[in-house]
Amino acid sequence: MNVERIITQVEEILKQKEKPTQKLQLICNILQKEVSHYDWVGFYMLEPTTQTLKLGPYKGKPTTHTSIAVGKGVCGQVAQNQTTMIVQDVSKMENYIACSMEVQSEIVVPVFKNKHFVAEIDIDSHAYAPFGETDKNLLEEISRLIADLF
Ligand code: SME
Repeated sequence: MNVERIITQVEEILKQKEKPTQKLQLICNILQKEVSHYDWVGFYMLEPTTQTLKLGPYKGKPTTHTSIAVGKGVCGQVAQNQTTMIVQDVSKMENYIACSMEVQSEIVVPVFKNKHFVAEIDIDSHAYAPFGETDKNLLEEISRLIADLF
């Protein structure tokens, strides 16, 4: 993957006069296009009153998991622990919510605004163990760049 090209594209999107939701959608699109092992890219937003994550913009196959309780699945655990989680083999994960049988691995990165957890970037891959430091660093950088959209 070309990290610099991705970051440049994200910065360009953030400068556009689009609504925040549209910007997030465009970011999903470019991540899924630029990185071959990113098969599903989406955002979940925290609804503080109900302590649930609500599905926001995404690129990939539609999912029925539009609402996830904090603590449930990989997404819910990241909302609880507020730290990036990489699952290289989802079949070995007990607290996991399967979206599709094709998914083998997942990375979820928290988004903070004014030091509060507000959302997360969720990426599913059909590849086994594809995620490394490059993915983590790239997505954590994007997470910092997009914080003001929430
Ligand atoms: N696998 C996630 C659920 C969301 S889907 O990947 C889109 C989880 O375990 O939280």
